[in-house]
Amino acid sequence: KKVYNIAVDGPAGAGKSTIARSVAEKLNFVYVDTGAMYRAMALHFLRNGIPAADEAAISKSAEEVDVTISYENGMQQVILNGENVSGLIRRPEVSSMASAVSIYMPVRRKLVELQKNLASKENVIMDGRDIGTCVLPHADLKIYLTASSQVRAKRRYEELTAKGEECSLKNIESDIIERDYRDMNREHSPLKQAEDAVLVDTSAMTIPQVVDRILQLFYERN
Ligand code: C5P
Repeated sequence: KKVYNIAVDGPAGAGKSTIARSVAEKLNFVYVDTGAMYRAMALHFLRNGIPAADEAAISKSAEEVDVTISYENGMQQVILNGENVSGLIRRPEVSSMASAVSIYMPVRRKLVELQKNLASKENVIMDGRDIGTCVLPHADLKIYLTASSQVRAKRRYEELTAKGEECSLKNIESDIIERDYRDMNREHSPLKQAEDAVLVDTSAMTIPQVVDRILQLFYERN
């Protein structure tokens, strides 16, 4: 049977997860959040006091650790060595650690394998940084979602404060800029728009407008 794959890439805070989750619901696809997998690994390294700069220790630990996903009421849960850590991976120190360790091939290899495997079995919309370029090079639709760094920082700030987390807009914006720089300039699978991806700048768009645009692009092509 034919399975459909939609790839969504873009910088931090572009709205990828919100948009992809909503498109998944409309198409009855499974939403796969790959950032959550990198975050779960990062949490594991933080808990074990393995510094991001220690490539050998990170690589060894990445090979031993077990990261999987499951679904609860349609919401993706990320499981680290049998423990559901979904509620523990959104803090800024986990974001920074995820970006710092995602540069290493052993970390990526393991998670990319899990991602390819998921996408080969069912209709998925998957978001991340290297989905259109590396994980799903033959995706039926590729979207590169972006927005200005100010708009992205403001959205992230609102998302965190709504959850009651203490944060500063200025710190969030500098974190985002630093993380994007690292994600776009790393050696392995850097964040970039795939040649056949459609660029969608969401700076001046509402969530429903972006969702409709993606649905329209999908139906045009499939
Ligand atoms: O998307 P999210 O902000 O949750 O991702 C956290 C970090 O994980 C990113 O900054 C990036 O370094 C890394 N990542 C990646 N490849 C992916 C998804 C996330 O390198 N496909």
